[in-house]
Amino acid sequence: MLSGGLGTRLRPLTYSQQKQLIPVANKPILFYAIEDLIEAGVHDIGIIVGPNKNLVIETVRSVEWDANIKFIQQEAPLGIAHAIKISKDFIGDDSFIMYLGDNILKDGVVDQVLDFENSDCECSILLMKVDNPEAFGIALLNDNNEVVKLIEKPKNPLSNLAVIGVYLFRSKVFNAVEEIKPSNRNLLEITDAVQWLIDHGYKVKSTLVTKWWKDTGKPEDILEANRLILDDLDPETSVKVKGKIRGRVSIGKGTKLNENSVIKGPAIIGRDCLIKDSYIGPYTSIGNNCKIINSELEDSVVMDGVKLVNIGNIIDSLIGRDVTMEKNNSLPKGNKFIIGDSSRVRLE
Ligand code: DAU
Repeated sequence: MLSGGLGTRLRPLTYSQQKQLIPVANKPILFYAIEDLIEAGVHDIGIIVGPNKNLVIETVRSVEWDANIKFIQQEAPLGIAHAIKISKDFIGDDSFIMYLGDNILKDGVVDQVLDFENSDCECSILLMKVDNPEAFGIALLNDNNEVVKLIEKPKNPLSNLAVIGVYLFRSKVFNAVEEIKPSNRNLLEITDAVQWLIDHGYKVKSTLVTKWWKDTGKPEDILEANRLILDDLDPETSVKVKGKIRGRVSIGKGTKLNENSVIKGPAIIGRDCLIKDSYIGPYTSIGNNCKIINSELEDSVVMDGVKLVNIGNIIDSLIGRDVTMEKNNSLPKGNKFIIGDSSRVRLE
């Protein structure tokens, strides 16, 4: 499982935490992948860590998993195929699944693991039709649906079949990662490693995935993943609270709402929050210990410890831990910001 990398497209959030730890429906993205692996019978998991490694280790260890989890340090984000290279001692001669820790798949990986175990392929990849193939590794298939070529983020894509961040391998891939050279981005690309297997006559199988899959590399991807997960939220209110609750809403212990507040699901609110005179609209996730007062939120992810007071209507937003946003009427009037590097603010 890969939980290294710099996550530059998610700055400033990724200055202080790994992108794989950003919560989607109040659960770190990485946990969805760990759950998928355990569900598929994988109980020995090596997690590649790089920047913010202590946070990853601490967060993963905060849960008791039905798996032995080891952490493998990658000294620098030198590519996904590089992560395979440094995992050789951990993996040995076993076949293995590599799961990019920022990917979420609706249907997990049970079928793919079973299918691979029963095959004689050296590698199995998952593909999905996408509208923006230039953002992914892309596969070209021949008339027999065999993978003939993989290209990493092509400027002029010849196919719309994106390679999903879940790969199954037998041990020949270790030869591939030794042989391939860094790309023009100076990374050991996973697409080049799989291409090496194809070029050397090894069987590479592909399966088309039709249910949703999300690579959460950018803010809009996190919001989309949040919507997709909340669509499947259990229709229950976990604690009895005041206020008007409509639709499927989950509310954590210790959270208080006043009678003027309205929550319209699907939405999730964590523990020990205060929601006062506010509207929480569909597709919103609010973490633990937040205070939302006289504000409106919709289609947003709000992380732990956030305080929003008199802030008006917030939509399509990603708000990091312990952020305070408030509006008061003191003079002189004007917007006042203390905002970290690479933040994005849009005032309407
Ligand atoms: O999500 C699928 C796509 O993932 C594939 O279609 C592409 O072929 C593949 O290259 C990859 O593209 P991304 O641009 O999404 O890769 P990213 O740099 O975001 O890295 C994917 C994950 O691996 C992410 O969780 C960070 C982690 N990582 C990445 C690198 C380069 C590491 O742990 N170490 C690394 O050196």
